Amino acid sequence: MAIVAAGAVGPRAIAAVEPDGFTLSPRCPPSFELTPRGTCELRDRYQLYDSLQGRGMGGTRTALPPHRNGFTPRQIDLGRYLFFDPVLSGDGTLSCASCHRLDKGLADGRPRSVGVGGKDAGRAAPTLWNVAFLSRLTWDARANSLEAQAEGPLFSPVEMANDPARLRRTLNDNATYRRLFAEAFPDRRGAIELDLAYAALAAFQSTLVSFNSRYDRYAHGHTAALTGREIEGLNVFRSFVARCSECHMPPLFTTGQVAVIGAPEPPGRPFDAGAQVTFGAPKLRGGFKVPTLRNIARTAPYMHSGAFATLRETVEFYNEGRGNAVPPGEALYLHWHIGSPELTGYEVDRIVDFLQALTDETFLPRVPARVPSGLPPVDNPRRTARGPSMQPDDNRGIVR
Ligand code: HEC
Ligand code: HEC
Repeated sequence: MAIVAAGAVGPRAIAAVEPDGFTLSPRCPPSFELTPRGTCELRDRYQLYDSLQGRGMGGTRTALPPHRNGFTPRQIDLGRYLFFDPVLSGDGTLSCASCHRLDKGLADGRPRSVGVGGKDAGRAAPTLWNVAFLSRLTWDARANSLEAQAEGPLFSPVEMANDPARLRRTLNDNATYRRLFAEAFPDRRGAIELDLAYAALAAFQSTLVSFNSRYDRYAHGHTAALTGREIEGLNVFRSFVARCSECHMPPLFTTGQVAVIGAPEPPGRPFDAGAQVTFGAPKLRGGFKVPTLRNIARTAPYMHSGAFATLRETVEFYNEGRGNAVPPGEALYLHWHIGSPELTGYEVDRIVDFLQALTDETFLPRVPARVPSGLPPVDNPRRTARGPSMQPDDNRGIVR
């Protein structure tokens, strides 16, 4: 966790403290560089490599796809306040961080999320690590940008249950938010419009990057970063027998595409048609966006339905053979990389070992000590304290 403090070791960016105590950081988060245009751009070591997109399995030296950037430090920091502020939900009880929790790998640890008033949100909350590299969002790929995605949870009756008019009024009635939006979007004076809130949330989420796992160190040439067993697991993962990396392609560990793999619903749950609904395509019945495996050891239970409690069970599912969990009467077009690999128990265990090496929460954001609504930020660090990155900040110009 040593690099956690990277943003806080240099000279503190001193900003005048406003009467209400809220100031937006003028600095980019760690591993981002301020461009002459005043925006933050990600710097990572994968920029040294060529892209192998479309050329097989994605070796360890494969470039990343384009990262969604172009946001200023103040837009990012405003997004952080919004992300942790329960005032965004209809009844003031849920923030984005209630379901994308800092202590649960930016997922929520539940098989299916729970919305306002205890409503069943229907699917598991995916992690938000590295979301800024995805061009399709949600399990069924129905959102094309982070901005468009934000409207989903905000206005869904089974998630945050707000409505646009009420959210707009709430933000505009709050003098702190009026000042912070004006600072973050100096070209847009006047009432706060919701597109700015979506942009700020996108800005914040674009900083949730995870590329400092032991796997990454191995990929950059530090062969001792992985144990012998993990290297064996990586080799099975990339093999033409297991084929995991055809879909969970390094370095993102997803191609970002939709695939039909036939994962089950938990007992008693109806079949979920997934991407068939999004695209109106019968061939995509039961298809879901390939999830990243970054920080996968932190985000149990697994799959869109939370059907599997452990990584061992999840890998076993692939090993039990093509179509093993497809309900009777469903004829799914299973992806051609879903086979019957017949891995030994030893090989399954090594894949599970390897998946542990994808953990890196170095740039976990800081929970604001207070948010402009005055409501308690839901992931209150005093409830979930776990390490230095979980400490509240002092709201004085330091992002993390
Ligand atoms: C009630 C729990 C809940 C809350 C609150 C919530 N989310 Fe989510 N989030 C989910 C679930 C469940 C999904 C998956 C939805 C689906 O696929 O149908 C999701 C999906 C996402 C995704 C897509 C990730 C991917 O890999 O495709 C993003 C981005 C996201 N949420 C951001 C947010 C933001 C920003 C907020 C606050 C405005 C928020 N969420 C609030 C539960 C929640
Ligand atoms: C054809 C593409 C494809 C292949 C090959 C593939 N997966 Fe997946 N994987 C997916 C999809 C799609 C999902 C989500 C399915 C769902 O939620 O119903 C998934 C989900 C997962 C999850 C759960 C992720 C989460 O956040 O819940 C794990 C772990 C996983 N796969 C590991 C593997 C391993 C290990 C292999 C090789 C044995 C493998 N996958 C092969 C497409 C693939």
